[in-house]
Amino acid sequence: MGGATFVSSQEPTDVIVKVTSSGICGSDLHLYELLGPFLGKGDILGHEPLGVVEELGPDVRELEVGDRVVVPFNVSCGTCFMCEQGLHSQCETTQVREHGSGAALFGYTKLYGEVPGGQAEYLRVPFGNTLPVKVPEGPPDDRFVYLSDVLPTAWQAVEYAAIPEGGSVAVFGLGPIGQMSCRIAKRRGARVIGVDLVSERLALAGKYDVELIDAEETEDVPEAIRELTGGRGTDSVIEAVGMEAHGDQIGKAAHGAAALLPDSVAQKVFEKAGIDRLRALYDAIATVRRGGTLSISGVYGGALDPLPMMDLFDKQIQIRMGQANVRRWTDDILPLLTEDGDPLGTEDFATHKLPLEQAPEAYEMFQKKENGAIKVLLQP
Ligand SMILES: NC(=O)c1ccc[n+]([C@@H]2O[C@H](COP(=O)([O-])OP(=O)(O)OC[C@H]3O[C@@H](n4cnc5c(N)ncnc54)[C@H](O)[C@@H]3O)[C@@H](O)[C@H]2O)c1
Ligand SMILES: [Zn+2]
Ligand SMILES: [Zn+2]
Repeated sequence: MGGATFVSSQEPTDVIVKVTSSGICGSDLHLYELLGPFLGKGDILGHEPLGVVEELGPDVRELEVGDRVVVPFNVSCGTCFMCEQGLHSQCETTQVREHGSGAALFGYTKLYGEVPGGQAEYLRVPFGNTLPVKVPEGPPDDRFVYLSDVLPTAWQAVEYAAIPEGGSVAVFGLGPIGQMSCRIAKRRGARVIGVDLVSERLALAGKYDVELIDAEETEDVPEAIRELTGGRGTDSVIEAVGMEAHGDQIGKAAHGAAALLPDSVAQKVFEKAGIDRLRALYDAIATVRRGGTLSISGVYGGALDPLPMMDLFDKQIQIRMGQANVRRWTDDILPLLTEDGDPLGTEDFATHKLPLEQAPEAYEMFQKKENGAIKVLLQP
């Protein structure tokens, strides 16, 4: 089934959710900044919604009107070959085959099925018996809203990092994904070293006893981490930067400018921009110890990005990556969210909460990382 047919049909297992909180994500910025050409007029963004079930299709048995639910960002059926193996981001019922993409995503343009997203008042959610995650009444939205994306993504990043018992992990990028990866890895007893260039993000990780490297002030980040780890590097590395890597500013300017240049020059600009955009990934590869594991949660989109194959091979590095399989992890995470003391620090995680009407201002602030914006929630 292709994305388009999937979206237009109204199934008897649909539920309609009245959204109460909806996150803005680093991935939304890729659409906002880089993938604009794939956005159609009237596309609704947003893939981090929490809300209340307002209406049920006739075949929905697992939910009732009034239930509080989180909606995973992958549109996954829960019953196909992929979903049954916990690979919900590859769901074969919703794969967007005409673009060669994996499972459809809420709020993610034509590339991922053009499914209307959750930065809205109401959201149609298919697969009402298997997709929405029912969460308890009582605690504030902040406790649960990150189950839609941030927490399962960070959880998968840590799982895929395969940190040995008592071992160490370096986390590149201390945005929401990196922050939560640090907290989860710490909770599992790992030694955690966090890397970023933004001082308030470093400071936030510092509150969770993460050792810090300021990439702005450090000439050679992998070398600095080797110095902290007996010359070896960390057992594991989590890459939570993606296409927003430092140097990307040059990349973006180049994308605009390159269109005006003769082809051969434009190609050089793209190549150079490509390399800058991979800064964090290269540092991650250089940081992981021989035989260690690199877990990539940052999103990459290039088809021709050069990789240091010799280092990867010689150092015998294992790499795991991909879109989070949200529904695979939600039941594992939920108990931590209802625990006393809020061990993952969800309740003060949002730096900003704005009404839905102020979404344009919220995007602008978030893009420019103004006012210490780390995580923004829209509340209709
Ligand atoms: N795999 C998934 O399913 C999934 C889900 C959600 C988000 N993501 C992706 O994960 C990445 C992180 O998401 P986020 O919301 O935390 O984004 P974010 O943009 O808030 O965080 C990225 C951080 O990386 C830092 N950074 C930039 N260059 C760096 C460098 N060279 N070294 C170290 N740090 C550097 C930035 O200062 C920023 O704090 C994005 O690419 C996002 O699209 C993936
Ligand atoms: Zn997201
Ligand atoms: Zn499926």
